[in-house]
Amino acid sequence: MWRFQREMKEDKGARWFELECVPKEYIFPKEYRPQNLDSPVCDSIPVISLAKSKAENGHSQPVEEILKASQELGFFQVINHGIPEKTVTDAMNVLKEFFDMQAKDTTTVTVPHKKGYIYTNSTYFAKDGVHLWRENVKHPCHPLEECIHLWPASPTRYQEVIAAYMVEIQKLSTRILEMICEGLGLEQGYFKDTSEVQFLSSNFYPPCPDPSLTLGLLPHIDPSLITILYQGGSTGLQVMKDGQWVNVGAIPNAFVVNIGNQLEIISNWKFKSAKHQVVTSTYETRLSIATFVNPSPNWIIEPAKNLVNELEPTLYKASQNMVNELELTLYKATQNMVNVLEPALYKPIQYKDYLLHSNAFGDDTAALQNGLR
Ligand code: OGA
Ligand code: NI
Repeated sequence: MWRFQREMKEDKGARWFELECVPKEYIFPKEYRPQNLDSPVCDSIPVISLAKSKAENGHSQPVEEILKASQELGFFQVINHGIPEKTVTDAMNVLKEFFDMQAKDTTTVTVPHKKGYIYTNSTYFAKDGVHLWRENVKHPCHPLEECIHLWPASPTRYQEVIAAYMVEIQKLSTRILEMICEGLGLEQGYFKDTSEVQFLSSNFYPPCPDPSLTLGLLPHIDPSLITILYQGGSTGLQVMKDGQWVNVGAIPNAFVVNIGNQLEIISNWKFKSAKHQVVTSTYETRLSIATFVNPSPNWIIEPAKNLVNELEPTLYKASQNMVNELELTLYKATQNMVNVLEPALYKPIQYKDYLLHSNAFGDDTAALQNGLR
């Protein structure tokens, strides 16, 4: 009897993922379930050292490599990036602590905080009645001094540690955008002052009893210029390449960089913005920190003027790229909901309107737009 009671008690304290079977609310219909879970990692996602500076064709080596990767798949990893390991480890530790604390605070489980940051547990992510196998926290990061006091106040080190991480990420993103400018032939500073609107979004994906039934993150394209992701040396990220889901390798201390759909448009579709998703693992917890480097809200997103010429006209026909429903949804957003049966040409719109029409961050879009104030 005593043992029975003790087990009951322990069960009560168990976190939502500490289960032997996947609850039915987390099981996706067959057509959405993950594929290629155990395939080898994809070696066509380049690993680029930012320390190399040998010039080739007039550009330094990292510029050439970033240009090629952005044109081919829109995904690459960077190493030798200069961000101190301790800054990153501290950020990962404080976020892990943050997620552990939410498990203990049962009063805030489903209602997202609307004050400065949004925390959501796994039951909040209903997609056609199915939940994702993750928890998430997100908040704006620019200007740092105006946002920092709105971030979680516990763990007590959260604000200090994440601010230090963001300072480094902002330096890295500026550096990468400058290399992209050079590679594309845009004038230096093209993205300066227009790319400072940054969100941090951290996902906690606990181990799952059966990864073949669940998803950590639905297939999506990032609504950013670029996204810089730290994945702590764990697997789970998959990218759509030639119609197949391929696994992104886990490289300790590297950052995954991907081209967002806004930069795809600015580049006059020279760059690709690839669809990606996250699958779960039976034994590994994945903790990720994504920073979205977004255009400023009033920037009218359209192909950069000097990337448009007679050979590469700016006109973007719906039929050319509409390969699936997801892209169609994003496209509709850029069209201000024109009739998709009569595809229109690409119509430039302000980034803030795009975000609202595409509902890029789901129910949280408006809150994030307003800086959560
Ligand atoms: C994202 C994303 C991947 C991850 O937040 O847009 O793709 O591993 N995240 O959490
Ligand atoms: Ni993403």
